[in-house]
Amino acid sequence: MAFPFMTAQEAAQFVNNGDTLGFSGFTHAGVPKVVPAALAERAHAEHEAGREFRVNVFTGASTNPWLDDALAAEKAINRRMPYQSTKGVRAAINALEVNYADLHLSEMAQMTRYNFFGKVDTVIIEAQDLNEKGEIVLGTGVGNVETFANMASKIIVEINHTLSPGMRGLHDIYMPLDPPYRREIPIYKPSDRIGHELLKVDPKKIVAVVDSHNFGDVHAFTAIDEATAQIGHNVCDFLARELREGRLPKEFLPLQSGVGNIANAVLAGLAESKEIPPVQMYTEVVQDMVLDLMKKGRCTFASTCSLSLSNDALKAFFDDIDFYRDKLILRPAELSNNPEVIRRLGVISMNTALEADIYGNINSTHVLGTKMMNGIGGSGDFTRNAYVSIFSCPSITKGGAISNIVPMVSHVDHSEHSVDVIITEQGVADLRGLSPVERTAKIIDNCAHPMYRDLLREYVRLANGVNHTPHVLGAALAFHREFLASGNMANTDFNRYI
Ligand code: COA
Repeated sequence: MAFPFMTAQEAAQFVNNGDTLGFSGFTHAGVPKVVPAALAERAHAEHEAGREFRVNVFTGASTNPWLDDALAAEKAINRRMPYQSTKGVRAAINALEVNYADLHLSEMAQMTRYNFFGKVDTVIIEAQDLNEKGEIVLGTGVGNVETFANMASKIIVEINHTLSPGMRGLHDIYMPLDPPYRREIPIYKPSDRIGHELLKVDPKKIVAVVDSHNFGDVHAFTAIDEATAQIGHNVCDFLARELREGRLPKEFLPLQSGVGNIANAVLAGLAESKEIPPVQMYTEVVQDMVLDLMKKGRCTFASTCSLSLSNDALKAFFDDIDFYRDKLILRPAELSNNPEVIRRLGVISMNTALEADIYGNINSTHVLGTKMMNGIGGSGDFTRNAYVSIFSCPSITKGGAISNIVPMVSHVDHSEHSVDVIITEQGVADLRGLSPVERTAKIIDNCAHPMYRDLLREYVRLANGVNHTPHVLGAALAFHREFLASGNMANTDFNRYI
């Protein structure tokens, strides 16, 4: 069977206004680039001609500028799920131009299969290779591609020639049966392989095959600042103490770490730790620092959904891919973030908060309670099911005008019931087994910035110990209201808000 090779512009013609599109990949990794860019051009031309052109964009997680931002700039996204993190699409979401459903990443594939979101028209897949049987070697991220490919009536494959042929063999593609037939997912340790190394699609559904030479454009993280480095140390000290005091088995347990500078700092701390043994990861993203840990013998295996690497790290990875071959596995989000597996393996979760409150509730998504930042991502999948769940953030933001510890979070993503430990550069609040009132003291004394401790204690005094979780409801959001009024939470006078 000869595949229909064509340009990205020709392939984009298979997409119609109102279609639901599934894309391979997870973060920028494994996400197609040239067809989405051509789709944005198509949207531009359609809009110029006065015709409507908006599509629903289903992905694994966040994507790349050629997809999210390019389509958002053309006002071509109607519905978006389950996660995003780029400036343009974020602005469009907050302008209410894009209908964003912020989902737990582990649930996207099964909810799509359960028909909760209607049909998938076309799936666009970034591939390293494709054969005539419809067997695909995927790129550096998997996401929900198998489910999208099974459900879609049309498949467009973008073969990215910059991907190393060594990618073959790194993937583990497996789709659980749906209820009532679902069985256990047989992963008992991060390195267990349970599926296929190739994504198998129906070759008859392939309507276009397009060449891509786009390597991506991802820069390394900025250098770690002092507060972030201190958070990293505090997390590592906490984990080392857990080991010493027998609350973690001496073999240690698999780690999940989120993305960004704090996650990077924690991993940097692990590289230096004398007490923590070499680790394994059961996570959704592997970023540059994990490869460093592997080189240093400090990480022996990582199960992930994506290699979310900077360009330099990706080049180095491809140059040395055989070194990593027995240390990495790339799985669908449905497996990398699977609650059953996370609970079974005893994963230690480490995620970042925008703000935490004095009772241990966490806001990961909404700035000042209303403005979407990125989304919940995998943080809920891991936090709720972790052996021990850790949230970290700096104690203050914007030079101290914002306290990241507040009386009441302005939006709840992770409730007090799922949050075990909060860590800032100030210290560690271990909340396990504590009542709400006991938690307030731990969080304020150990995690809040000294410049906000008295204000937070005053709030607790005003709440006056009445009821199980004392609050002064009129003043519970006084920090946020004060920030909106004067631009500085430190000016808060609770009496003005009661
Ligand atoms: N109130 C208002 N703004 C705040 C804030 C607060 N409490 N805390 C941070 N911000 C602002 C920062 O100032 C920064 O704004 P800027 O872009 O204008 O500088 C922005 O929010 C991001 O903060 P930053 O410290 O750079 O955050 P980050 O890159 O470490 O990301 C999250 C933090 C919470 C946004 C990010 O971890 C996230 O999206 N988490 C949810 C998904 C997730 O956990 N995924 C991982 C699962 S593996």
